[in-house]
Amino acid sequence: MKTPNMLEAKKRTNNKVNILYDEYKITNDMKIGKNKTYHIKTYGCQMNEHDTEMMCAMLEEMGYTKCDEMEEADVILLNTCAIRENAHNKVFGMLGRIKHLREKRPNIIVGLCGCMAQEEVVIDEIKNKLKWLDLVFGTHNIHRLPVLLNEVSRKKEQEIEVYSKEGDIIENLPYIRDNKFKSWVNIMYGCDKFCTYCIVPYTRGKQRSRKHEDIVREVENLIKDGVVEITLLGQNVNAYGKDLYENYGMENLLEDVAKTGIQRIKFVTSHPWDFTDKMIEIINKYDNVLPFIHLPVQSGSDRILKLMGRRYTKESYLTLFSKMREQIRNVSITTDIIVGFPGETEEDFNETLKLYEQCKFDLAYTFIYSPRVGTPAAKMKDDVSEDEKKERLARLNEKVNKYALESNKKLLNKTVSVLIEGISEKDENILTGYTDTNKLINVVGNKENIGKIVNVKVCDAKTWSLDGIIE
Ligand code: 5AD
Ligand code: SF4
Repeated sequence: MKTPNMLEAKKRTNNKVNILYDEYKITNDMKIGKNKTYHIKTYGCQMNEHDTEMMCAMLEEMGYTKCDEMEEADVILLNTCAIRENAHNKVFGMLGRIKHLREKRPNIIVGLCGCMAQEEVVIDEIKNKLKWLDLVFGTHNIHRLPVLLNEVSRKKEQEIEVYSKEGDIIENLPYIRDNKFKSWVNIMYGCDKFCTYCIVPYTRGKQRSRKHEDIVREVENLIKDGVVEITLLGQNVNAYGKDLYENYGMENLLEDVAKTGIQRIKFVTSHPWDFTDKMIEIINKYDNVLPFIHLPVQSGSDRILKLMGRRYTKESYLTLFSKMREQIRNVSITTDIIVGFPGETEEDFNETLKLYEQCKFDLAYTFIYSPRVGTPAAKMKDDVSEDEKKERLARLNEKVNKYALESNKKLLNKTVSVLIEGISEKDENILTGYTDTNKLINVVGNKENIGKIVNVKVCDAKTWSLDGIIE
């Protein structure tokens, strides 16, 4: 185990990645879950959500059944996120609750996995203060869950298995989809961009692309299984293939996936650095590639972008952005922004606001900068006060809300294409789904439309959602 170390981690890009097809196996003696239940709490990004779907499948193959109430489960797993301090705090808070639960029910097994498990500071804290925690494993050895659970239940001792290697690719892991009609499809793991604030290149390892044949085969199987929409997943999808092929990149993959005939394809997350004109061409050429792009800008100040190690300027971002808006019909573009990066001045922040005014994003996820141990930015002088950061976030969010509403209002009285996903949690007479531009919509219509892509007339537009009626 090591702490994240940028210099050391950066040496890694030429190391060989193993693609392992037979690494995951469940033998009969591993099936210890009969008459027992599990509960997984998932924090963080889509990558984690998909990892949880895999862990659910493994646990069910072991005989466990899912339990909605954590308090009643025999196995509790926390699939954690390390991206910001508050994600950390939530997990430690939850562990406090679970500790009490375990005092009442000493036979339950409690585990922690995901990105926090890849941090040495967290492992130290677990070893020193959380000796009662049964199981800890990292992002590189999810497939070992059945083996590790067996060991823990036999030995009744704390089991910590975290690889700090750069990562292999483990193929053929089962997963249980959260939604019948939609599926995540991993196309790559890890990240080699090393933005100075970000812990991901350390917790998720080196960038590793899956083989395109394996991805296409997975999509073909999903189609057979009734899946209508897939989201291709990676920290940096536009860099797909760069670590594996000479002449096969994201454009090629997107085209090959489009040709499978799956009805809807999304992809997240794009980095402005690698987004090519050919990508725009492919999005336009295939109707099943949705006109939706998540393109994190992080800041509108060139000075801050440089300190962040983003390797583009405000100007080059705006050029790419305008090209997308001009060339992709009805495109919806969303972004991520960090406020209060070390040394961000009022002037820098105003540059971000100005850029926001120019782009009028469909939506943005906004964050206050959070220092992560081991990243270069954590060592930079940070003289922006907490109050100032909060105030900047509020000012930015005003703009986010304003333009989210504005972009939704543009759809009023228009007909949009919607995948109906299910019944609204708030009202059983209302259906919910997403437009082809990734906007949440509440729909009046027949339940028989669940799982179908239908035309919906938009009759109301709010900041976070639309209302409509099936035509
Ligand atoms: N502090 C705040 N936000 C961060 N992000 C990544 N690292 C940090 C950090 N240390 C944000 C970025 C990224 C999104 C997933 O999380 O905006 O795009
Ligand atoms: Fe983190 Fe994304 Fe930058 Fe990779 S590209 S280092 S995941 S912010």
